[in-house]
Amino acid sequence: MTDPFSQAISPEIVRSISLSTGRKMPIAAYGTFHSDWAQALMKGATLEAIRLGWRHLDTARAYENEDVVGEAIREAIRKGYISSANDLFITGKLWNGHMSPKDIAPALDKTLQDLGIEQIDLYLNHWPWPNVHAPGCTGDQRNPDAVPYIHEAFLETWAEICKLKKAGKIIDIGTSNHTRATMELLLRDVAADERPVCNQMELHPLFQQAELRRYFESEGIACTGYMAMGSPKRPSRDKFKEHRSDMHDPVIQEIARECGVSAGQVCIAWAAQRENHSGGYVVMSTNAERIRENLVPATKNILSAEQVLRISGDGTDANPGIDANNRLIWGQVFLWPEADGDWRLLWDDSQVFLTRDGYQKFKSSWNSHHAVQLATTHGRAGH
Ligand SMILES: NC(=O)c1ccc[n+]([C@@H]2O[C@H](COP(=O)([O-])OP(=O)(O)OC[C@H]3O[C@@H](n4cnc5c(N)ncnc54)[C@H](OP(=O)(O)O)[C@@H]3O)[C@@H](O)[C@H]2O)c1
Repeated sequence: MTDPFSQAISPEIVRSISLSTGRKMPIAAYGTFHSDWAQALMKGATLEAIRLGWRHLDTARAYENEDVVGEAIREAIRKGYISSANDLFITGKLWNGHMSPKDIAPALDKTLQDLGIEQIDLYLNHWPWPNVHAPGCTGDQRNPDAVPYIHEAFLETWAEICKLKKAGKIIDIGTSNHTRATMELLLRDVAADERPVCNQMELHPLFQQAELRRYFESEGIACTGYMAMGSPKRPSRDKFKEHRSDMHDPVIQEIARECGVSAGQVCIAWAAQRENHSGGYVVMSTNAERIRENLVPATKNILSAEQVLRISGDGTDANPGIDANNRLIWGQVFLWPEADGDWRLLWDDSQVFLTRDGYQKFKSSWNSHHAVQLATTHGRAGH
């Protein structure tokens, strides 16, 4: 009979970080975003991840497969890989389309039901604004109802998330894709037990976001990095000719040769070891060998301090590091009309509004400005 734990890594040796509430979170999270092409593989891959020792699953309503992940969890219990879902640390995310307070409790209930659990370890607000795009949409899609960050509305969402935490359905709460200004506003306006404990954000060697990450960490907010190896099979809407590939970077390749590991492992080893081992990573694979290999950097230091420095840099000419501000998720499908097509506005905090009223005033002045601009352009075209 084959050993059901063949090649498995003991969850005991997987490192954890302490959240500000004192709970431990395994630093390696198995991602369940399916990149459209892999949906059919996700049950088997998630089951294999649990068998091989992953105990932190990163899920989201937006991935449209919480039921499939739930089936994998139930099968893992049946097969004896875990004794109950309590052996797992499960992260879930409130989708943008459910941020209206009345929709949040039903959305969470559906998530809990599909995953087959009674409470979720960590519930993140997926994006700071309620803008939706159709699943599998193309990169040129825009939703005319999209809005920028409006703090008044976000606080209403957050209050409901906090209520569900107090009701025991959520253990810890966090954000995802928050920026500095939106986090400062949130921290300004919430009680100590309503602070987010974690922010999940895009982080990989060519997109390190060191300043933003340090800000979150200085506030006691742990940062987990998604697309930790550069998401080579991300949907085409998130692929642009300006992008570079982390795993093909010459420094990453050089370090992989020095360590005798894959380029992917170097990327996630960097995620596990960067700056005082303060954070974690989320990666996915549908391949058993890579599922196992991706857990190893959470169990031991693969990189020397010098190799970490070669990737991170320290701001000196001698150690420039390899950060290239290579953001993979531009988020252009979430853009609101007044962003005028510039995806950078999603990230640079230049259009953040305290109230709905403030945004409406800005919108009307932008509309009249736009009308003048159009009239001028048409006028010119007429000559
Ligand atoms: N909060 C958010 O807004 C947000 C946004 C994006 C993603 N996420 C989370 O982050 C997770 C990871 O993101 P991602 O899947 O886009 O990016 P990723 O983990 O960087 O890349 C995964 C891809 O890399 C390949 N791969 C995995 N391990 C490898 C290795 N060791 N060497 C070479 N290739 C390897 C996989 O293909 P194979 O299957 O063939 O191995 C898979 O296609 C998602 O599943 C999701 O849970 C969160």
